[in-house]
Amino acid sequence: MTRKFDFLVIGSGIAGISYALKAAQYGKVALLCKTTLSESNTSFAQGGIASVTYEPDSFEKHIEDTLISGDGHCNLEAVEKVIYGAPAQIEELLNWGVNFDKDEKGLFDLHREGGHSEHRILHHKDNTGYEIQESLIRQVKAHPEIEVFEHYFAIEILTQHHLGQIVTHHTPNIECYGAYVLNQQSNNIHTFLSKVTLLATGGIGSVYSTTTNPEIATGDGIAMTHRARGIIKDMEFVQFHPTALYHPGERPTFLISEAIRGYGAVLRTQDGKEFMHKYDERGSLAPRDITARAIDNEMKMRGHDFVYLDVTKKDAEETKMHFPNIYKKCLELGIDITKDYIPVSPCQHYLCGGIVVDMNARSSINRLYAAGECSCTGLHGANRLASNSLIEAIVYADAAVKDAIKIIDKLTINDSIPAWNDEGTSLPEEMVLITQSFREVEQIMSTYVGIVRSNLRLVRALNRLEILYRETEHLFEKSVVSREICELRNVISVAYLIIKQALLRKESRGLHFTVDYPERMRNEL
Ligand code: FAD
Ligand code: SIN
Repeated sequence: MTRKFDFLVIGSGIAGISYALKAAQYGKVALLCKTTLSESNTSFAQGGIASVTYEPDSFEKHIEDTLISGDGHCNLEAVEKVIYGAPAQIEELLNWGVNFDKDEKGLFDLHREGGHSEHRILHHKDNTGYEIQESLIRQVKAHPEIEVFEHYFAIEILTQHHLGQIVTHHTPNIECYGAYVLNQQSNNIHTFLSKVTLLATGGIGSVYSTTTNPEIATGDGIAMTHRARGIIKDMEFVQFHPTALYHPGERPTFLISEAIRGYGAVLRTQDGKEFMHKYDERGSLAPRDITARAIDNEMKMRGHDFVYLDVTKKDAEETKMHFPNIYKKCLELGIDITKDYIPVSPCQHYLCGGIVVDMNARSSINRLYAAGECSCTGLHGANRLASNSLIEAIVYADAAVKDAIKIIDKLTINDSIPAWNDEGTSLPEEMVLITQSFREVEQIMSTYVGIVRSNLRLVRALNRLEILYRETEHLFEKSVVSREICELRNVISVAYLIIKQALLRKESRGLHFTVDYPERMRNEL
């Protein structure tokens, strides 16, 4: 079946939905997600969304904090775009019905997190993402111009390659005409044709064995763009959140928001000693890369699996009011955070790199835009500042709409794309081949491509991955397409890009730390 739209949006987190709501004023929109509208990294966001709101905060301070956190690798233009553009997008969220907490004077109650010099995080208790996601879903459901496709899995973006042309990284003017999409209920593959396409497919957590991301985070947009010969960058900068709840076996790993350290919690080793000042003068409020590495080091030195986060010195009622979900979750596990220390350890959380986009969210492929976690705007540099992700996603989604509407009337839908060809394929005989390979990718990445890296470990990871790559491509060619085999291909591509780009960086910077090149070498911004 072929479907035609002006705007094809792949992904229904904050980037995809906010784009769809705005684009729908200018044409027909298809909004796709691979499970339900509610399941996204956005729904999981806890701490909040950063935006300069009141004095003594200032745009200059937020810019400086972002640049410091990014460890000399940010694109200043992108940083300024997001930070100056943030208040207008917060206004949009408020207009769409998002509730941010206020104090007794009716002013926004602003939190502070690691790396921020001021209180500037707007939040809804400790489940800001859920509040945003559900408010945006209400708007989408009421919108007549947006057709929602739940359980539709995008397999490939369509380019000249699907018209029989050879497309390489050197082909000028690669164009995107839409996507092949698997309807997971009927198992049919539909051709979605569009004038422009937005990739808003989110994160890559499922490449690692422990992550705060839901399992849908398999880096599909990045892998699809890579296969279509688009440019992918900064993949070595994988962010590990310092304080995920230590509760082995639970997936995704529950996050203990950084806002709790902004509120006054401190990190302690298992013998109760504070240790962060040994690593950074900002102590427990140092940026994430430094904090995660410090915890990793303390755990390795002592042979411990976790450290403690201590919020017991704060007023118990206030703690419960600010962090009701964290309080409830921990209590279910027998930890009363107002009296007990919380066991935490770092785990995969975010990817700073991704599909390279310009100031208008255009990727290197014509008619293909990207926004949100799958994109690489240059805002985060080598290490994302806490709560800068949701705001980046909405600012760049807005830029993508503004750019697309300038060209949309001049574009036509390409009707020559053939239907998906599944001749000669059959159902995979053994599903276990896919699930086992998936587990192997996670293990390879967690063992060899974690917080501290070395050439030896990266090369070993690459060699192991190459075997999985060959086996999986072979399986893919002869199998009927399923979401599982596509996701496996995608995590292998993402893992490959992380390792390859990590090997190319002959220095330690931000989230990329290697024992072979422990110093920061190049002078970047
Ligand atoms: P997502 O919200 O992840 O949405 C991705 C969408 O793409 C989903 O709808 C999915 O179904 C769809 N999709 C993916 N692949 C396909 C495919 N092949 N076909 C069809 N659909 C597809 N950031 C902050 O700024 N502040 C915070 O406080 C914060 N806290 C966080 C806490 C947690 C536990 C986590 C995991 C992240 C947190 N982040 C936070 C990061 C932030 O939530 C994400 O970076 C952001 O929400 C990403 O939004 P997105 O729109 O890019 O993608
Ligand atoms: C958190 O609440 O610690 C997560 C914030 C973020 O990832 O930006």
